[in-house]
Amino acid sequence: MQWLVGDITRLELPRHAYDLWHDRAVFHFLREPEDRRRYVELVRHALKPGGHVLVATFGPHGPERCSDLDVMRYSGDELHGEFGGGFTKVNELTELHATPSGKQQEFVYCYCRLAG
Ligand SMILES: C[S@@+](CC[C@H](N)C(=O)[O-])C[C@H]1O[C@@H](n2cnc3c(N)ncnc32)[C@H](O)[C@@H]1O
Repeated sequence: MQWLVGDITRLELPRHAYDLWHDRAVFHFLREPEDRRRYVELVRHALKPGGHVLVATFGPHGPERCSDLDVMRYSGDELHGEFGGGFTKVNELTELHATPSGKQQEFVYCYCRLAG
């Protein structure tokens, strides 16, 4: 196990190194299209061909802000659309997450495969 710390829009990762990209509640902080483009490019670069992508963001009815920051909200299709061609959507799931303070947050999980 190796921990890497960095800004996901600037991080350098080895090419075709990972079988699975799993992100919960990070992508929705990227409000600038250029940051999202860099993120998706990094996923495409770092995943092995045929690799799995599981990304969870706030859903359309989720909070508009988190940690005092504005966030994006996505449906499953919108989230898949951010990844674009080359990523095939396999499944999506909506979850109502209960926070420690008892609030409910709508999360959408989008599971895609990178083309082989
Ligand atoms: C709400 S927390 C989610 C933590 C965990 N993944 C979870 O599901 O509970 C959001 C995380 O996104 C990270 N984050 C936000 N923007 C980031 C960026 N540009 N690069 C790397 N991490 C980022 C924050 O540091 C924080 O740890």
